[in-house]
Amino acid sequence: MCGIIGYVGNKKASNILINGLLALEYRGYDSAGIATLENNEIKIMKDKGRVRNILDLDGYKELQGTYGIAHTRWATHGKPSKENSHPHMDNSNTFTVVHNGIIENYNELRSFLTDNGYTFYSQTDTEVIPNLIHYYFKKIDQEDTDYNNKTNSFENKTNVGNENNYKDKVLEAVVKATNDLKGSYAIEVISPLIPDTIIVARKDSPLVIGTKSDENYVASDIPALLTYTKDFYLLDDNEFAIITNDSISFYNKDLEKYTKEIKNIEWDASSAEKNGYDDFMLKEIFEQPNSVRETIGSRLKLNEACNFDDLEITSEYLKSINKIFIVACGTAMHAGLVGKVLLEKLCKIPVEVDIASEFRYRDPIIDDKTLCIYVSQSGETADTIAALKLAKSKCAKTLAISNVIGSSITREADYTIYTHAGPEIAVASTKAYTSQVVLFAILAIHFSELLGYDNTDITINPDGKTIKLYDIKKDILELPKKISMILEDTSLIKKFADEAYTQKDMFFLGRGVDQTVALEGSLKLKEISYIHSEAYASGELKHGPIALIENGIHVISILTDPSLAKKSISNIQEVITRGAKTMVITNQDLENTNFDYIYKIPETNPLISPILSVIPLQLLAYYISKNKGLDVDKPRNLAKSVTVE
Ligand code: F6R
Repeated sequence: MCGIIGYVGNKKASNILINGLLALEYRGYDSAGIATLENNEIKIMKDKGRVRNILDLDGYKELQGTYGIAHTRWATHGKPSKENSHPHMDNSNTFTVVHNGIIENYNELRSFLTDNGYTFYSQTDTEVIPNLIHYYFKKIDQEDTDYNNKTNSFENKTNVGNENNYKDKVLEAVVKATNDLKGSYAIEVISPLIPDTIIVARKDSPLVIGTKSDENYVASDIPALLTYTKDFYLLDDNEFAIITNDSISFYNKDLEKYTKEIKNIEWDASSAEKNGYDDFMLKEIFEQPNSVRETIGSRLKLNEACNFDDLEITSEYLKSINKIFIVACGTAMHAGLVGKVLLEKLCKIPVEVDIASEFRYRDPIIDDKTLCIYVSQSGETADTIAALKLAKSKCAKTLAISNVIGSSITREADYTIYTHAGPEIAVASTKAYTSQVVLFAILAIHFSELLGYDNTDITINPDGKTIKLYDIKKDILELPKKISMILEDTSLIKKFADEAYTQKDMFFLGRGVDQTVALEGSLKLKEISYIHSEAYASGELKHGPIALIENGIHVISILTDPSLAKKSISNIQEVITRGAKTMVITNQDLENTNFDYIYKIPETNPLISPILSVIPLQLLAYYISKNKGLDVDKPRNLAKSVTVE
């Protein structure tokens, strides 16, 4: 989705703005632009296409301004074009704005402004914002008693004395303009009236301010600024800030000034770089032993109760609830499907998993006896945040699982726990998924301990096999080592990818928890290789989809639960009989089979096996995409952080 960068300091702003935009490229975009101010004149360089194109635009090299704003656009209203690229200006060229989000009532506002003499030059929703600011500024300035003493209208006076007075007025105009906006926004405003200053505002779209002595930065996400600073202010909804090189002042909608706490973000700048890997996705796949280890952290020790000191959920509360919802989108939702299995098995509480965009509009049955868990790597997914607000309005308690400290979802939720996967840059989520699943496993054990099941025999599969929490803890602690073992030799997956990359369709099958991994493998493949694929519960195949199985089609089956192995093998035979080429990802010793490929992964408890079985599927999608010569990290049409619904 769109990205925002801003800089106020003493260095040449254009370089910093471009570097910031390059760091945001992973979010997905189709146009880019920057604006700086020098000699009381705003200079805008923008066009459709890649950020680097800006470097070749006339006048770029001459830019000398020491502050400015920048944007990558992911088209929503109006096709990718120079006119629709940000920054946008008002008709008098006084206010320059970049905007993330969607203004839902822009048609109404456009008509209102058109009736008041404004003209529009783009098809965007954003262009109403600078013009609305202008509309209100003019009113405010006219009401000022000073106004009558001035000889020219404000448009003709740039950098005229009393800058603080102008700052107050521009801020007031920004607040008034945002009061009229329906929808979501993170905006930056610059104007010759307030040199060396950026005004920012946010509602339902992320915005952070990175701070250093004598220079300040703005961005739509933290990794974009990690090379400059680790100290951040995280703007909340309906907050405004006036930023100069050496000051940041925060205001609410009533224009009351207040202070905010700085958050120190521990992420390492190098974690947002490729470090010798061809692509971020490959790097992130290989980081999984560590990201899983970090997420386990000090929460889980073999002979101790799990440590969730940061989570104030009590055993009384857990005993009082009768249902858990897990709500998320995409890969995070797939992690939630594993979370459901874990929570139901270990805690015996019914769990429903819902797609956030459906949950928010389907009037789900929720009350104060429901716990709603929201999973979001970015913590900024618009549908997930809206679904969380809905549950809160119905008196349910909400728990966020996120990878980004201080992200919007964590500020809305009653409780938050973090995965510690480090920044995930590739659009296709990999290490966030395995971290989410391992955190669900530890959370389920913790809840189970709170409910008093510490020493109970837990039946985990249909053959009646029982385990104790201790057994599962042991298996979790061994996961990082087992992931490393899988990553040591990827040759078989490469071989299968070399054969499969010309396919038009593929199938992923599994039973039980393996079916949830099939869904994730299929999503990965679609996202980055553009090959159509379907994921099915193996037993469901003959109820329809088997009609699609024909000679030569590639079918990947996941088989990690010994109690379901025989059934799954029969289902694989059904597709082989119809001409399918098969790869089976398994931790079982499958002898005398007619499968084309068997990819062996280390054995573990079936409840947490997705953390291992998903890795070959991530690699498969990656190698197929590479074979097709595609941009693995920035697949077409996709954005990393989906901040619009
Ligand atoms: C898939 C992928 C998406 C995200 C989804 C939710 O690889 O990355 O499906 O999982 O957009 O994003 P978050 O977790 O940031 O809420």
